[in-house]
Amino acid sequence: MEMIVPARVVLVLAAVVLGCAYQATRPPPPAILGAPGGPPVTSPRVRLKDGRHLAYREAGVDRKTAKYKVIFFHGFASTKENEFPVSREIAEELGIYLLYFDRAGYGDSDANPKRRLKSDATDVEELADALHFGDKFYVVGISMGGYTAWSCLNYIPRRLAGVALVVPAVNYWWPLPVNVSRTAYGKLDVRDRRTFWIAHHMPSLFYAWLTQKWFRMSPIVRGEPDAFTEKDLEILTELRRKERESGLVDPAKATQQGTYESLCRDLTILFGTWEFDPTKIKNPFPDGEGVVSIWQGYEDKIVRVEIQRYVAQKLPWIRYHEHPVAGHALPNMDGVGDEIIRELLLGETPRGLQSELDG
Ligand SMILES: *[C@@H]1O[C@H](CO)[C@@H](O)[C@H](O)[C@H]1NC(C)=O
Repeated sequence: MEMIVPARVVLVLAAVVLGCAYQATRPPPPAILGAPGGPPVTSPRVRLKDGRHLAYREAGVDRKTAKYKVIFFHGFASTKENEFPVSREIAEELGIYLLYFDRAGYGDSDANPKRRLKSDATDVEELADALHFGDKFYVVGISMGGYTAWSCLNYIPRRLAGVALVVPAVNYWWPLPVNVSRTAYGKLDVRDRRTFWIAHHMPSLFYAWLTQKWFRMSPIVRGEPDAFTEKDLEILTELRRKERESGLVDPAKATQQGTYESLCRDLTILFGTWEFDPTKIKNPFPDGEGVVSIWQGYEDKIVRVEIQRYVAQKLPWIRYHEHPVAGHALPNMDGVGDEIIRELLLGETPRGLQSELDG
């Protein structure tokens, strides 16, 4: 006997399948900080206008007596506990106050379901105001934190005293000449390309992609050895060892509210279509009253040099420093952190590295 499946049943089945697929792509709500069952809040925080809180950590000299105030934007899957390598000597010699904070959705900072490039810049501004920084402050964006630095340059230029973009992340969908984006994109591992492509073209499915088990995930996103040079791995292994010893950095803390509001948002914002073109940003210091610099390693496998060079060429007011044998761990190479800070605050051209750097 032939089995006749009524159309209604087919429709219901299809709806169930689609519903499951949809559910699978929908991220769970973030764990609520400080709520019963949620992660406890263990850092000082400021309250923003929209009611969210940002968690911060202070270092260097006392805020009230400091000559320079510098805010650091941490990288992907990191938190305010990840130090930028500024030596104690230089902090004391120059009188530098360092402010680290968890970007929205990371660590102890509340998630921001409306997070965009612009909200990252206004978060920085509100944080600085809440801590009475005064008119201007310095910012340093590291790797993924680089997009927050670009956003500050675009949205709050008048608040900036200087900007250092340190191995700043790039977007393959910025308005770039085809040969530049193709060359850089083509050098990526196919697993990275796939992942970045989905972040750009199908951001609503990106969470499902990040959590699926069928296809191999991007080594860059996973922070796997394939994403680093040998020198990077040497430097980072030593750094992780020190962090473990100090007990100050808990790698799980970055995503304690879930990966959606932290990692997913970072990647879909970075690789999304930007509402401004970084190569069109105006010089915030036309009278030379501040420094904007980009620091890039020639061998960096995470942030490819071709795009960085193109952006730097388009913005002649940016000081571009390319280290010929560095990878993504450039800021953690001996003395580089202090050189970055000296140039940012004093305008000093990097001394020891000068001949190698200005590529
Ligand atoms: C792209 O093309 C321009 C103009 O032909 C050339 O100057 C540049 O070096 C090329 N860049 C890359 C990365 O191939």
